[in-house]
Amino acid sequence: MTDSIQPTILITGATGSVGSELAKQLAEKQIPFRALVRSLDQAEALKQLKGAELVKGDFKDELSVLKALKGIEQVFLLSNSSEDAESLQSHFVDAAVKSNVKHLVKLSQFAANLNSPVRFLRYHAVVEEKIKRTGLQYTFLRPNLFMQGLLGFADAIKYQQKFFATAGEAKISLIDVRDIAAVAVERLITADQDSKVYDITGPEAISHQEIAEALSEVLHKEIKYVNVSDDEMLVALVQFGFPEWQAAGLIEDYAHYARGEAAVISHAVQDVTGKSPRKFIDFVEDYKTLFE
Ligand SMILES: NC(=O)c1ccc[n+]([C@@H]2O[C@H](COP(=O)([O-])OP(=O)(O)OC[C@H]3O[C@@H](n4cnc5c(N)ncnc54)[C@H](OP(=O)(O)O)[C@@H]3O)[C@@H](O)[C@H]2O)c1
Repeated sequence: MTDSIQPTILITGATGSVGSELAKQLAEKQIPFRALVRSLDQAEALKQLKGAELVKGDFKDELSVLKALKGIEQVFLLSNSSEDAESLQSHFVDAAVKSNVKHLVKLSQFAANLNSPVRFLRYHAVVEEKIKRTGLQYTFLRPNLFMQGLLGFADAIKYQQKFFATAGEAKISLIDVRDIAAVAVERLITADQDSKVYDITGPEAISHQEIAEALSEVLHKEIKYVNVSDDEMLVALVQFGFPEWQAAGLIEDYAHYARGEAAVISHAVQDVTGKSPRKFIDFVEDYKTLFE
């Protein structure tokens, strides 16, 4: 710990895509925070951040969670979409209720719904409902598809000049994780005591063909989007190492995108942070060295 002020903010998922950006932005604003991490050795980058206090913990270990929650008032709750995410996050909520937590900021997902055909959207909705029943203040951040998800295709884009998905021609208002983190920061430090639910999207809805065009423009070479079948994508994801439950969930997720259900544009980033969310072309410019 580099700061003597006792943090009242706990962030989880701090080694991941959204959480690492959130930690960085809190440090830049000199807001002290505690981060629950499963491995201190894997959290070197977090240790370097000003005001960061790291505690070792796992959602599967209630005592470690209760210890991490000591003295904490605001929590950022995130874990990846694994088969046990619903129960892990639900147990975390129980621990938050037993502690002195006042406000839970949960990273959920755009279109979370108990009756959704998409398993990720159902489990997020179950956890949201549980949080609502606690009586704690809550903020649900429901982001659309992450721009940074494309980094998983960085090698295919670099070496084969193509990337794959099952999105068809649907437009999606994808969002940069840096903008999601900026909204999370504001909600973690807000004096507003009302609960809020935010759909978080980028400023435009674009198709995967348009994603390919933006990549081609910035990288000065033709990048192609290849639309594949659900079965082809499922096999590729499992070969890539995704557990079957998660791979099948991603297929459901993309079917929802392909149905054109994720093209809505929200103004939450502008409203909460006072800044416009990044366009996809801005994302490509900032990350282009990873694709070329
Ligand atoms: N990808 C998208 O386009 C998209 C769109 C909308 C919403 N979402 C939602 O975003 C979330 C994923 O966010 P992300 O991409 O930032 O996640 P991520 O990069 O996969 O990181 C997951 C984080 O959760 C931590 N974690 C996993 N299991 C844990 C446990 N048992 N105890 C404590 N920590 C645990 C991981 O820690 P370790 O480092 O120890 O593994 C890691 O820090 C999901 O809920 C997903 O539904 C994603």
